[in-house]
Amino acid sequence: MKTVLVMLLCVAAIALCAAFGARFFFKRQTPPLPLTAKLPGKAAIVYYSQSKVRNTALLAQWIAKATGGDLVEIEMEEPYPEPYPATLKAAGRDHREGILPAIKPLPSLDAYDVIFIGSPIWYGSYAAPVGTFLKDNDLKGKIVAPFCTHGGGGEGRFLQDIKSACPEAKVLDSLSLRGSNQIERRLGLGVNSHHTENDVTDWLNKLF
Ligand SMILES: Cc1cc2nc3c(=O)[nH]c(=O)nc-3n(C[C@H](O)[C@H](O)[C@H](O)COP(=O)(O)O)c2cc1C
Repeated sequence: MKTVLVMLLCVAAIALCAAFGARFFFKRQTPPLPLTAKLPGKAAIVYYSQSKVRNTALLAQWIAKATGGDLVEIEMEEPYPEPYPATLKAAGRDHREGILPAIKPLPSLDAYDVIFIGSPIWYGSYAAPVGTFLKDNDLKGKIVAPFCTHGGGGEGRFLQDIKSACPEAKVLDSLSLRGSNQIERRLGLGVNSHHTENDVTDWLNKLF
């Protein structure tokens, strides 16, 4: 009985290693997609990223690399506490009470034509600090390209809520990718390995 159990465990371990190895190998073998997108002007990539894994920040960096746009990070005046359960408690309270937390001042976006807006999905929409940014900034006449990372629940009302928050902007289709948690990141799962910069290139090529 014991021998069978050990054998089963070995088979499971080999299967896991093969799966992760293949994923890693496959990712490295994927040739980069050519970028055909031509942006209609200067771009800023405005984003908020909260978790230690910084999924949305990674996506923002990929977009900046592809477009040559300027990165603008939204930071809270008083960041939510760590660890994760404390973050959930504080963010959950703000969400229930409809509180938009104070964020640090950002550079003017006047000179930009295209504004990429990135957020983790919180409670099926954009994170509260992104809500503060949208409340404080008039994006009238701008081209807005929203992107997000989520924990498996999809983008929910994200795109629809961005459209409602900036009704006088031209809001394009969003990019929504699943992020990773800390364990997945160590195992090479999540946004790092399920997705590559090709996902960004493909999205940009469709948008512009
Ligand atoms: C307060 C809070 C609420 C969240 N709500 C959702 C949700 O509704 N749906 C979902 O799929 N993931 C949800 N997540 C997971 C994050 O969207 C996901 O981990 C994201 O990739 C984190 O991005 P970041 O690393 O840039 O902070 C939530 C996370 C937090 C902290």
